Amino acid sequence: MMLKTASFYAVITVAISTASADQGAVRDRKLPVESLYVDQAPNHLRPYILEHYVDTRAVNVSSQIYRFAVTGLSSDNAFTLISTNAPRSDALGVLPHIHQRHYESFFNYKGRLQLWARKDNGEHESRILTPGDYGSVVRNTTHTFQILDPDTELTGIIVPGGFEELFYNLGDNFTSGTHTPYVPAPDLGLAGPDSDTIPQLESFDVYAQLEFEPRRDLVNDTAPAGSVWHSGFNVLGKPGEPYFIANGYGPKTLNSESGYQVIQPLATREQAQDLDFTISTISINKKRSNATVPEYSLTGASAFQILEGLLSIEIGQYETAVLSGGDVAFIPSGVSFKYWSNIAFTKVLYVGKGQDSLDKQLIMKGEPWDFVTFPIN
Ligand SMILES: *[C@@H]1O[C@H](CO)[C@@H](O)[C@H](O)[C@H]1NC(C)=O
Ligand SMILES: *[C@@H]1O[C@H](CO)[C@@H](O)[C@H](O)[C@H]1NC(C)=O
Ligand SMILES: *[C@@H]1O[C@H](CO)[C@@H](O)[C@H](O)[C@H]1NC(C)=O
Ligand SMILES: *[C@@H]1O[C@H](CO)[C@@H](O)[C@H](O)[C@H]1NC(C)=O
Ligand SMILES: *[C@@H]1O[C@H](CO)[C@@H](O)[C@H](O)[C@H]1NC(C)=O
Repeated sequence: MMLKTASFYAVITVAISTASADQGAVRDRKLPVESLYVDQAPNHLRPYILEHYVDTRAVNVSSQIYRFAVTGLSSDNAFTLISTNAPRSDALGVLPHIHQRHYESFFNYKGRLQLWARKDNGEHESRILTPGDYGSVVRNTTHTFQILDPDTELTGIIVPGGFEELFYNLGDNFTSGTHTPYVPAPDLGLAGPDSDTIPQLESFDVYAQLEFEPRRDLVNDTAPAGSVWHSGFNVLGKPGEPYFIANGYGPKTLNSESGYQVIQPLATREQAQDLDFTISTISINKKRSNATVPEYSLTGASAFQILEGLLSIEIGQYETAVLSGGDVAFIPSGVSFKYWSNIAFTKVLYVGKGQDSLDKQLIMKGEPWDFVTFPIN
């Protein structure tokens, strides 16, 4: 870990010193932001930005397109972040299965999808996720999903990193001259490996659960009927238990250190246990012209995916980048960064690794808050 960080700084130093022969003058000069932008997740640890729908060594599994914004290689196995786009389907997106070593989080970026989860002999639960809804599939949970609407995008966060190897193995390489979210053609039916193939995937930490019959008896988008879903407060689950948080119905914190930020945790270190990660949404109000934003340098990797608005972010020695919906910024441990919004409302999905992740710090320095919006003054 130390070595990786050190070699990252070496890369930066080389980049600065080759930018100009005049060492004294370059010290104050920022590196051009263009070099942060990549067209696929790098094969080594470095800060980078991937714009939404860049093909990122994309693959298709049946009609589903998987784009890999953060990978095991790009994050030193901190986590994997995948975007999945697909047509609506009458079939499951994958046959039911378990991961023994990987904790998988399902975040609905847009559209509608259904998620099923059952842990051991626990309750067999299902939810229909609309944008901003979250499902936490802890290890050893039988789960599957289905895409329900034509313009659906799922953000999958899998810890530890490296899980994309499964999709490289199963999928066909996908490129598109137009970066279309998915191929405009009718759904090909069952996505993913068939019942003969899925039992062969245990080396990828996929354990088929072919006897699992996804329940279809949802009432008000939830089963069992009567569970709190878009109708009241959702708590984060007990460690080791799957759970669901509807957009805006989970716990919230207001941080007023520099402007206003509303932090909505989806998974904390308590749920993550030994995997040591956090996931939150962070809503950020417009930076006042006289405000200074804090600079962070964390012991673990961070990723931001923009959900709404425009995020300004300054990473390490680079010039400020401005990210819009679906873009992802990845920041390795030990690399400094600052972020803010120059417009009224920007919301991001944040994933952090380690004990001092950004959302954890913001929550610690904030106060409990009942709303998704900022105070009026
Ligand atoms: C990828 O999509 C094509 C059609 O666009 C399909 O023929 C092929 O089977 C798909 N690949 C996989 C692995 O499902
Ligand atoms: C998941 O199940 C496997 C096999 O039973 C077990 O070895 C492993 O400890 C379990 N993992 C967790 C986090 O409970
Ligand atoms: C798919 O893409 C990967 C990465 O670029 C490459 O190594 C592999 O050979 C490609 N597979 C095919 C069948 O073209
Ligand atoms: C479903 O939602 C309706 C409208 O909010 C409510 O009246 C009804 O009780 C709900 N059904 C269940 C089983 O919770
Ligand atoms: C910044 O300006 C606002 C009004 O525009 C004022 O209320 C606030 O106190 C100022 N903050 C600082 C740090 O000067």
